[in-house]
This record gives sequence, C-alpha cells and structure tokens, in this order.
Amino acid sequence: MISKTASPPARQQSARSQRETHRTRLFATKNDLPAEVRTRGVDLLNRRLADCIDLQTQCKQAHWNVKGPSFISLHKLFDDINADVGEYVDLLAERVVQLGGVAEGTARCAAERSTLSEYPMDIFDGQDHVEALSSALAAFGGACREAIETTDGMGDADTADILTEISRGIDKWLWFVEAHQQGSGAET
Ligand SMILES: [Fe+2]
Repeated sequence: MISKTASPPARQQSARSQRETHRTRLFATKNDLPAEVRTRGVDLLNRRLADCIDLQTQCKQAHWNVKGPSFISLHKLFDDINADVGEYVDLLAERVVQLGGVAEGTARCAAERSTLSEYPMDIFDGQDHVEALSSALAAFGGACREAIETTDGMGDADTADILTEISRGIDKWLWFVEAHQQGSGAET
C-alpha cells in the first residue's frame, strides 16, 4: 500500500532517483556526436545549468535588497544581469536537449547541485552586494571556462562555443559590477 503522507526525506529521495534515471537516458537523434560524448556533455551542462539558475536567483536577491547612495544604478544593473543570465539558462538547457538529454532545471535541482556559495541574506549596502555578486559571477565564469576546455577536448565544439558565449557575457558583467570597487586605487 502506498502511503499518502510520505515524509519529506522520502519524497526527496524519490525525486533524486528520478533524476538519476533521467541522467542516464539519452534520446535517439541524428546528431552525429558519439553517444558517449553526448552523455558526458549532458551531465556537464546540467551541472552548469544548476549554477546558472542559482546565479539568476542571486541577481534578483541583490536587485531587490540593495540600498544606499548607488541604489538606483545597482538596482538597474543587477536586473540587467539577471535578464542576460536568464538567457544563459535557456542556452544551457536547450543544448542539453539538443544532445538528446533531459534538461534538469527545477529550483530543487539547482539547490541540490549548484557549486556557487550561498548568497548572504544579511547584506544591504551597495558595496556588500557588489562584493557578493561579483564573487558569484567570477565563480560561475571560472566553472564555464573549465567546461569550455572539457567540451572542446571531448570534440564537442558547439557546446564549447555556447559556453564561450556565456563566459564572454559573464566576464562583461563581472567588469560592470567590479568597476564599482575599482575607482579608489584598488589595483593588484
Ligand atoms: Fe524589479
């Protein structure tokens, strides 16, 4: 008999095992990349997808809560970044599906898998959000660069190209955010 009141851990386990099943599933496609390359690409892309969804929520967290003299410019900047990061989420998820995989893009997957640090809930000052969001952008940009190397080495130039587009955009936004810290002789 199936219990109607499964405990939360039991439900989580069930969702996790469902995702494990999906992770190994590869749909048939006429795409000529070898199945092994597509499987590795799907796994890697789903990991970066989790990071990217996490990053998007962090942009909004900063957009909503920033305060101080630079409020309006940072409030708008963080929302502009959020819009582009949303496009990167779509690029990653759709590449997973192009390779025959299942895009795993729920908030629960992202929370479980993201490699980004937790965004602080107790910051409000503009400079604190600049520091926190620039750290998240830098971490995601680094993970994308690593993934470019990996997918290029696997012979999947198209996934590497998509990741390059994303990392190029992330580098631009990192510049926009970090410029708020660089005006007072903060050279290395
Ligand atoms: Fe808004």
